[in-house]
Amino acid sequence: MKLVKLLANLGYGSRKQVAWMFREGRVTDAAGDVLYADDQVGHDDVRVDGEPLDPPQGLALMLHKPAGYTCSTKDTGRLVYDLLPPRFRLRAPVLSTVGRLDRETSGLLLFTDDGQLLHRIISPKAALPKVYEAMLAQPLRGDEATLFASGTLMLESETTPLKPAALEVIDETHARLTLTEGRYHQVRRMFAATGNHVVALHRSRVGGLALDGLAEGDWRALDAADLAALMDAG
Ligand code: URA
Repeated sequence: MKLVKLLANLGYGSRKQVAWMFREGRVTDAAGDVLYADDQVGHDDVRVDGEPLDPPQGLALMLHKPAGYTCSTKDTGRLVYDLLPPRFRLRAPVLSTVGRLDRETSGLLLFTDDGQLLHRIISPKAALPKVYEAMLAQPLRGDEATLFASGTLMLESETTPLKPAALEVIDETHARLTLTEGRYHQVRRMFAATGNHVVALHRSRVGGLALDGLAEGDWRALDAADLAALMDAG
């Protein structure tokens, strides 16, 4: 791929803007020699203003999403993309969230520009477990674990019952819920079906991947070991 296209795809600017960067001599190889728009050089050998390029296509990352950020590229208010480098919003192929978390939900949110990976993660066949910690307005009734595990709970306006989900009671207003599907507002609606209300919701794990000390608002790229852990539903 010609360098002008590579850089434009990575969000460094429009083709026109990137072409200017070449004219200004801002794009070099690792040794500092100026590169040109039509050159075809390996991603790792390119520098812009002396800096290595952003990760190539095939990027997957996790963000520790704080509450109050929307999973959208163009909503009003604070967006999860505001927490990533600004160029990441301009990449082609697009870097999209893998599923969504509600604005007021915090925790592990995945992004990728790899369509196949995205489908593998959200595929019902993969049934990757997703672990949520819920703070509740009311004390638990005591029958929630049995109800959620039953595979018979039908949420309002749905036509099929929820798959069995595992509930671990932490204390009377705090529970850990493991889902293997992802319906709209699922955790909030499950507790609403028991007459309760979720006051705070946090996702701590997807598949075998956990936040593992990643601070709120921070992100990091996933490597092959992370991806293997992610897809390990065990
Ligand atoms: N379930 C919810 O209700 N909200 C989320 O953000 C994720 C799962």
